[in-house]
Amino acid sequence: MADLKIKFLGHEFKNPVIPASGCFGFGYEFSDYYDINILGSISCKGTTLKPRYGNPLPRIAECPAGLINSIGLQNPGVDKVISEELVKLDKVYKDKVIANVGGHSVSDYVETVKKFNDCDKVLAIELNISCPNVTGGGMAFGVDPEVAKNLVAEVKKVAIKPIIVKLSPNVTDIVKMAKAVVEGGADAISLINTLVGMRINLKTGEPIIHVKKGGYSGPGIFPVALRMVYEVSHAVDVPVIGMGGIQTAYDVLEMMYAGASLVMVGAQNLVDPYACKKIIDDLPNVMKEYNIEKLEDIIGRCK
Ligand code: SIN
Repeated sequence: MADLKIKFLGHEFKNPVIPASGCFGFGYEFSDYYDINILGSISCKGTTLKPRYGNPLPRIAECPAGLINSIGLQNPGVDKVISEELVKLDKVYKDKVIANVGGHSVSDYVETVKKFNDCDKVLAIELNISCPNVTGGGMAFGVDPEVAKNLVAEVKKVAIKPIIVKLSPNVTDIVKMAKAVVEGGADAISLINTLVGMRINLKTGEPIIHVKKGGYSGPGIFPVALRMVYEVSHAVDVPVIGMGGIQTAYDVLEMMYAGASLVMVGAQNLVDPYACKKIIDDLPNVMKEYNIEKLEDIIGRCK
């Protein structure tokens, strides 16, 4: 029988498939479609210290192989996430989840991470230093190695949960960024967030997205994500979560051969709310097709 279990940060995941932050709400919203307890875990909607209404509309632009989003970290703020959203999630999902934390300043990140210290539902924090859709924060922390390292070091001083740092692909040297956050104390790395892109409305000659640019994700970025996961996982000694354009169980195997211990599925959930379920259902057959008995055995096997 195919063995899908993965050990990661001391926790056993029943399979490596996790919906990516921002593409699956707080998780419970999808429980009307299927029993979400089949998921390896859930990376919850990006959370900030204070509530955020997000960017003005339009904030989505469709592309041939994906979409551009400029949501702007819309969320009810960490206190409500803990007291309301995660409570609703706990009623329909029994495992622990990953909290995704964004911010505008070092103290924003530090204070938000501190609030999750006592939250039993949360297994680890994914530190989002790669959101391209907010000014004065987000990706600004994720494109300079020293700034990123210092942020991670400050967060690590207060964090009780393991810290997974989510990297931006919008840099010239992803390995340099990965090494910097590991020096800062990152327990794991997730990558990639979206690539900065734009579309223009030919009727008006103006950008479709209200704030002009946004983050491009979807199957079009899969080869870029795979390359970056490969480079990073072979350069650092912390585990890596791979994401970017994953659509199928075949893509999951590629990501794991490249070096991902776990994978996150993002934009595909917006195309098909059953995407993660289909991938999990298909994995045993696809493993059999390639004579893989234990999924853990293929992590980083591509040299
Ligand atoms: C957003 O809320 O704008 C997207 C989050 C992200 O790209 O990190």
